Amino acid sequence: MKKVIIDCDPGHDDAIALLLAAKAEDIELIGVTTVAGNSELHNTTRNARKILDYAGYTNIDVHAGCDRPMMRDLFRLTGAIIHGEDGLGGPSIPAPTTPIKEEHAVDYLIRTLRSSQESIILIVTGPMTNIAVALQKAPDIKDKIDKIIMMGGAVIEPGNITSAAEFNIFVDPEAAKIVINSGCELYLVSLDVSMKAVFFEEDIEKLRAQGDKISTIVASLLDFFADTHVKHFGFKACPIHDALCVGYLIDESLLEFKKTFVDISLHDPLTLGETVADLWEITGNQPNCHIALKVDREKFVSMICDHMKIDCR
Ligand code: BDR
Ligand code: CA
Repeated sequence: MKKVIIDCDPGHDDAIALLLAAKAEDIELIGVTTVAGNSELHNTTRNARKILDYAGYTNIDVHAGCDRPMMRDLFRLTGAIIHGEDGLGGPSIPAPTTPIKEEHAVDYLIRTLRSSQESIILIVTGPMTNIAVALQKAPDIKDKIDKIIMMGGAVIEPGNITSAAEFNIFVDPEAAKIVINSGCELYLVSLDVSMKAVFFEEDIEKLRAQGDKISTIVASLLDFFADTHVKHFGFKACPIHDALCVGYLIDESLLEFKKTFVDISLHDPLTLGETVADLWEITGNQPNCHIALKVDREKFVSMICDHMKIDCR
């Protein structure tokens, strides 16, 4: 079993990432930590608890983490446009009843990693604030991190928040820089692949037609998410960015990576939060990050559909 903690900001695609991990046969989702990103922390935390409760995963603990980026105010506008005012617009899902754990996400991450006999995989699907703060507070936890698979960045394609930057990195670029330069084994799942692994209307209908409780709610979440993508970006298909990180853990053949040197632009307002990769290897800097360059869309769509209908609680 692969031991995994997901650090997230649900968010439609984060919510689907949580379900995919909870349902995957060889993943043990030992905990969930939340961060401010797509919405304020109280919303992202409630949404994580909400989707897990709805699917019956009341045994997976949720810990709330940082309520703002390390050095900036939370950039609020786009998250609300894309994910709705409370971060999970669309179908009405009952309020969660399982309590949120009291321990702060950063302390939970440090304690869990330090006390674990085995190394743990971190999947990060929101701004990287919690992970960066944990690495700064307790650099020794690095030894217990098997790898970090994170959704963020746009190396070849344009960004989705500015021309240069992708949302998760743009929201907390200082945190992203700390994580990227941490020396951990890093896998960056960027817009370069997530915007190609999209659900078209017929894929959403196929999922809905499965007829079970979770496929049906996920199809409704995707209706909302697809609709905001049409309205905001004029893009007639629905990405599920964050779930790709989990998908890779389920089946490595889903994504192809290249290891290269990556850094984050911090000082130029025009490129703030850009993930700059040394693709042509001219800097002489040691590669520090595997970046995803190719994805198998059909495989991803089938994986989501197949997993959503499994009841493996
Ligand atoms: C990322 O930003 C958020 O809106 C999504 O949840 C995803 O993590 C895509 O840029
Ligand atoms: Ca997210």
